[in-house]
Amino acid sequence: MLGTDPKERIYVPIADDLDTVIANISSVAETDGPGPPPEIEARLAQVLATPGKRIRPAITLLASKLWGRIPDERTIKMATAVELLHIASLIHDDTVDSADTRRGHATASNLWGGNIAVLLGDFVFATSATFVCDTNSVRLIRRFAQTIAELSRGELNEILESWSLKTNRDRYLQRIYDKTASLFSTSAESGAVLGESDEDSVANLREYGYNLGMAYQVLDDLLDYESNAEQLGKPTANDLSNGVLTLPAILAIESGEARSEISTYLSATDNERPHLLTVAYDAICGSDALERSRFIANDYIDASLKNLESVPESESKEALVQLTGYIRDRQF
Ligand code: IPE
Ligand code: IPE
Ligand code: MG
Ligand code: MG
Repeated sequence: MLGTDPKERIYVPIADDLDTVIANISSVAETDGPGPPPEIEARLAQVLATPGKRIRPAITLLASKLWGRIPDERTIKMATAVELLHIASLIHDDTVDSADTRRGHATASNLWGGNIAVLLGDFVFATSATFVCDTNSVRLIRRFAQTIAELSRGELNEILESWSLKTNRDRYLQRIYDKTASLFSTSAESGAVLGESDEDSVANLREYGYNLGMAYQVLDDLLDYESNAEQLGKPTANDLSNGVLTLPAILAIESGEARSEISTYLSATDNERPHLLTVAYDAICGSDALERSRFIANDYIDASLKNLESVPESESKEALVQLTGYIRDRQF
């Protein structure tokens, strides 16, 4: 179904396959056969009901078409797996970030508490693995498992580095590779593998996903400062309020523009915190850290477009270029 959303136009070459991915995801909550019992099914149906931007499965499907193949059953299963893995990671992420909304709706942890949310997330993680097994590719299964480990490592490091000044630019870049660029990279690489490209092209696509994923998370961290919750469908100003320093804060510390405000905020007592949060937030927004973060994101965007240069011209390549532009310009 094509709407006015620019992404929908980008998805035209894979629209039917993306619909199948969404149908596969909905089927996870169905009780036919040895599925979950009804009490669990209802909750799963709720967390799986609202599709997000579907960027990762779109990347897998488009990458698989770059060398002239039509996405087959295995490719659609892989695209389903990457989106399910993403959804599972969001369920856990919203639990640890104490986020009340996602995709414009209440999160699982908000509705049913952290315990249920963690276990529902586990269910979705495990289910994502069954879809990747359907590709019959040990290479992809291994890469998928590594991606889950990297995701967990990124989220763990984020918590372990929170409320302290021990984060720096290198640690941040490692963290966002782990939590976001790893899965983008796997989405693109798996498409290339299933599209039967040569190994040099697989490596190029892996790099494309890496650079795009790095840009994506830097820009998402910027939107946490610059956008509003209603538009995004998830909370904003959430990173700093959770004691998490992302690129804008790290750059403002590095340059000294907001170092003392952030440091004072991080060591504040519970009573002082709300006021000092505003002070630190304003100091970051008043510095040039947001603009410099955008430059860094744009460098990753440019690198990702370079990774596509050697790919033969096609409708799918053009769609990936457009998707990259959509990510660069995304406001919500
Ligand atoms: C949110 O990902 C998590 C990040 C990596 C920033 P998306 O922005 O792709 O979320 P949905 O799937 O569209 O909801
Ligand atoms: C990204 O983390 C989520 C994962 C990759 C698991 P964030 O916490 O930065 O993303 P949002 O802002 O909640 O979407
Ligand atoms: Mg979060
Ligand atoms: Mg998080």
